[in-house]
Amino acid sequence: MTSKRNIFFPIPIIVALLQLQIINNVIGEPQVPCYFIFGDSLVDNGNNNRLVTAAKANYPPYGIDFPQGVTGRFTNGLTVADVIGQLLGFPDFIPPYATASNNEISRGVNYGSGGAGIRAESGRNLGDRISLSRQLVNHEAVVSRLSLLQRNRTFTNEQIKKCIYIVNMGSNDYINNYFMPNNYPSSRIYTPDQYATLLIRQYSKQLTTLYRLGARKIAVFGLGFIGCAPAEIAIFGTDGKSCVESINNVTKLFNDKLKPLVDDLNNGLSDARFTFINITSISTPQGGVALPNVPCCQVRSDGQCTPNSIPCSNRLLSVWYDGFHPTEITNRFLASVSYNALSPTDASPYDISQLAKL
Ligand SMILES: *[C@@H]1O[C@H](CO)[C@@H](O)[C@H](O)[C@H]1NC(C)=O
Ligand SMILES: *[C@@H]1O[C@H](CO)[C@@H](O)[C@H](O)[C@H]1NC(C)=O
Ligand SMILES: *[C@@H]1O[C@H](CO)[C@@H](O)[C@H](O)[C@H]1NC(C)=O
Repeated sequence: MTSKRNIFFPIPIIVALLQLQIINNVIGEPQVPCYFIFGDSLVDNGNNNRLVTAAKANYPPYGIDFPQGVTGRFTNGLTVADVIGQLLGFPDFIPPYATASNNEISRGVNYGSGGAGIRAESGRNLGDRISLSRQLVNHEAVVSRLSLLQRNRTFTNEQIKKCIYIVNMGSNDYINNYFMPNNYPSSRIYTPDQYATLLIRQYSKQLTTLYRLGARKIAVFGLGFIGCAPAEIAIFGTDGKSCVESINNVTKLFNDKLKPLVDDLNNGLSDARFTFINITSISTPQGGVALPNVPCCQVRSDGQCTPNSIPCSNRLLSVWYDGFHPTEITNRFLASVSYNALSPTDASPYDISQLAKL
């Protein structure tokens, strides 16, 4: 099934959604008081810049299309988290935890860290990173700071219940763990199904912690087609297909368990509004045009852009920016459909626009 999957690109839909986004921005006031972001390099906006790690994007040609240039974002322009923030009506980008000031944190914080995973050890091969459990510790500190600053715990608790939280985790538990048998023993210890179960069990505890810290409206992103990432294709080969089918088959097990986890959390935690964003569904819309799985920038052996290299000029027609990360145009499409689902399988039970209104 997954063998023919690719990222498809319905350009007219993208144009329509970009217009929608502009209208949204003109209206001005954000739809929710704040927006908190948890995840890995798909959302990191500078938290890794001062860490000792190979997972950094604070050099050109990253940021070539971003208003402020290089920031640490692992793409040419906006991340999926940035675009969702715009769609929610936030006039400014949510600041990285590493540099967020007291004045900024009431609008939200981005805890994302390249190389990070659900499991603490994932991404260790790259260097330091802020695992999901550590991101939650950072969030606890931010909530305490907020209650001190706002001098009214009831007010703070009421505010943070209304906010949107997104969690985009799990890719590194595969890319920089399970599929790296020379660095990690996980694939020898666990079958793909056992490993997915283990990840989901840990993720369940972490998402419950986020709920206990006051979050109620939480969008949990499933994994994309990791087997279609150019860097994974370069390592594993595709056997004539457009993607590494065996990888997509293994990561599907995680997604198939994540959706029921979201349902369980909604049933088990009072007032909880978790939703599952199905990135593989969003990546394969009806009537799209298949684009090749090749990077836009020149990549190093680790799949990241070669510093100061010249990227492709047709970045609006390229799915991937480097060996692992989508271009801004892909991020715009993924974010727009997460926000306003096009099909019932894209987001369930809510898309992000519905989550904001609840
Ligand atoms: C604290 O916030 C709550 C909820 O917004 C409000 O009803 C209450 O009056 C506030 N208390 C003080 C002392 O300002
Ligand atoms: C992946 O899963 C599909 C559908 O179950 C199956 O037909 C295919 O043989 C699998 N491919 C690999 C390489 O495991
Ligand atoms: C994601 O959407 C696809 C349809 O596009 C569907 O086949 C798959 O079951 C969905 N995944 C989950 C976990 O719901």
